[in-house]
Amino acid sequence: MKFEFENPTRLVFGAGSLSQLGEAVRAYGKKALLVTGGGSVKRNGTFERAVASLNASGVSVVECSGVEPNPRLSTVVRGAEIARNEGCDVVIGLGGGSTMDAAKVMAAAVFYEGDPWEMIAHGQENRNLPTRALPIITVPTLAATGSEMNAGAVITNEKTTEKSFVIAKCLFPKVAVVDPELTVSVPPDQTAFGICDLITHVTESYFNGVDGTPIQDRFAEGVILTAMEWGPKAIADGNNPEARAQVQWASVVALNGWVQVGSAAAYPVHMIEHVLSAHHDIAHGAGLAVVNPAWMRFAAESRPARFAQFAQRIFGLALQHPEDAEAAKEGIERFEAFLRSIGCPTRLSELKIGDSLLGRYAQDTVRIIHNSEGLLPGRPPMSEKDIIKVLRSAL
Ligand SMILES: [Fe+2]
Repeated sequence: MKFEFENPTRLVFGAGSLSQLGEAVRAYGKKALLVTGGGSVKRNGTFERAVASLNASGVSVVECSGVEPNPRLSTVVRGAEIARNEGCDVVIGLGGGSTMDAAKVMAAAVFYEGDPWEMIAHGQENRNLPTRALPIITVPTLAATGSEMNAGAVITNEKTTEKSFVIAKCLFPKVAVVDPELTVSVPPDQTAFGICDLITHVTESYFNGVDGTPIQDRFAEGVILTAMEWGPKAIADGNNPEARAQVQWASVVALNGWVQVGSAAAYPVHMIEHVLSAHHDIAHGAGLAVVNPAWMRFAAESRPARFAQFAQRIFGLALQHPEDAEAAKEGIERFEAFLRSIGCPTRLSELKIGDSLLGRYAQDTVRIIHNSEGLLPGRPPMSEKDIIKVLRSAL
């Protein structure tokens, strides 16, 4: 067991914490690029309150609105240009994962000489990871990606139909202002997709990490059980402040690194879903709800004990023996049933995706990220054939 861990993001959590945004930003700059998505923050008053808090602390605001779901490279370029032309000295991502991710990469693209796509993993031999970025402040309005407190971002290149990620130290936000009250107007379907996303962040490391990580296992199980307990309450009543807060906290913890410490996890389900999103512009969490159970059934064949543990600890199933494949299967069934119960799709057909491009999805997935044998990293590593098999089982 050898690992390092660092997460330098200051977290300001709690109902009403949006009012602390100005003070948090003022420590890093005077002129902020305020990045937002499709306009819900304007309709529900969050934008106005954010600007009021910033102005009260002496921070002026330059807007970059209109970041789309599955944020595009051209949007990143546009935002970086605004920041450069206006002389912004700090970048705020106010919105869901897409908005925060775009804001992060904009902050790095301000200093990047070449095409910002070079920073994103897409199968190239030498990645040009960003080493410098404007200070980043995140304000999530959705409980899902955990992007508010980590160094990752996911961007889509609309010209090449590729969606992929960048992880770099300079992308850690300086401050994450996480106010669960901002999520009360999120509709039930988006709330459910966020819950699926956060659960998938921890199932990836739970099933694809190294052996012998009992504390990490318990962390992951804690996140899953908490999301399964409070998620349905947040969906049933969006105005339930405690449910919103518990789900929001679960989403932060699910991908701020604590659960993953030392696990050296791979993210095969995410990698496959990114390709589906790139081709079909579907909601990330909805794509994960389809791919994750299908992937689990595939992976359980080679590692039944791991999935039996999941079945026992998450669903309380009794095991006949540690490698109980039947219990493992039953646990996956129950997990899939949970996703369905909160309104997530679990078949590709529900996303209007057929079988005509299965080979292309597999090729794209492996091209973007592969190990030295050309396989998608994970447990087990997957060939293109394996990916097709998993997707076919989810039609
Ligand atoms: Fe995700």
